[in-house]
Amino acid sequence: TDYSPTALDKAVAQLTSALESEKDSIQSEQEWKTLRDRWMARKNGILTQINDQWLKAAPADAKREVGQRVNALKLLIEDRVAKAFAQVDATDATGRIYLHGDIKGVRDSLRQKQTAKELPLDVTLPGIHRPVGARHPVLQAMHEIIAVFSAMGYSVEEGPEVETDYYNFEALNFPPDHPARDTQDTIFLAGQEKKPARERLLLRTHTSPVQIRTMQKHPPPVRVVCPGKVHRHDTPDASHSPLFHQVEGLAVDINITFCDLKGTLDHAMKALFGSSVKTRFYPSFFPFTEPSADVQISCPFCGGKGCRTCKQSGWIELLGCGMVDPKVFEFVRDNGYDPAKISGFAFGMGADRLAMLRYGIDDIQLLFQGDVRFLEQFA
Ligand code: DAH
Repeated sequence: TDYSPTALDKAVAQLTSALESEKDSIQSEQEWKTLRDRWMARKNGILTQINDQWLKAAPADAKREVGQRVNALKLLIEDRVAKAFAQVDATDATGRIYLHGDIKGVRDSLRQKQTAKELPLDVTLPGIHRPVGARHPVLQAMHEIIAVFSAMGYSVEEGPEVETDYYNFEALNFPPDHPARDTQDTIFLAGQEKKPARERLLLRTHTSPVQIRTMQKHPPPVRVVCPGKVHRHDTPDASHSPLFHQVEGLAVDINITFCDLKGTLDHAMKALFGSSVKTRFYPSFFPFTEPSADVQISCPFCGGKGCRTCKQSGWIELLGCGMVDPKVFEFVRDNGYDPAKISGFAFGMGADRLAMLRYGIDDIQLLFQGDVRFLEQFA
């Protein structure tokens, strides 16, 4: 009944402080709904009542004063109800805010909140890190070796890691109990001792058995490289690992000579380590080659002057090789390998050694520990 500005201001102040304290006490979505309905429900909400009892009932000359206050109250109520909603952060499982009723003020305020959630664009934040895989350094080394030889017309052959004594030793001219077997400390599968060589299983100690498997499959000429894992009963240290990798090579044709072997390997080493690298062939022994040689390259780090990597010698031993022993051909003679008519050379190199030299890795164990901090350097 009293439409004087003082009376109106007092009533507004009372409503405002009631609204503020109710808003501050909201704890749950259910409480928020009650608050919203109490103040904003179309029927009998406080806002509706104010509209009816203050504005509609006011005499014509007071409508201006009353109207201004009712409008201000309306904005205030909408704002506080929206803020109360933010307090309980009613987001559904998809992260979307649900809109209750169609009260414009609440909805607009919620839209702002939602937009703020979706688009906080801070260009100074670091980007999302998506880890990128990398080829393992040993695989990279093997691929490089294969690339060099495939450019010379070699194809790739693979063989099993669980091999028979026959392929790993006998057909490579390691007779049973021959001392040359001692140089390749072998892991046999349990319970195989009494079995004949063709059945006795072991973990291959080198990739050379793939030579025999290849010659059984393909008559001459052949030119193949054979990458793969090999195993030896070695105690791990900085330069030994019970598991390591080799790439084998075999070339058989008519008139293959030691000159072909030297020329091929000299080219391969220059392709892998740079054209200034020199090779030298050092007499050696392998049962499956005659003559046999170890190939050394001039140290690519010091150019042959002597450094830590080459142990001051100027040379680094990288692979074994030789002319295929006629006795090896006898094992595959049936498939066209008559040692009186054909000849060939073979070689085997350590891929881990090569990777270590290429990337300056001083401990072979790093290659097999799977430490991401080490591996990601090769990405
Ligand atoms: N298989 C030998 C080893 O693991 C390396 C080797 C030497 C392979 C001479 C060959 C070769 O093909 O001709 O020690």
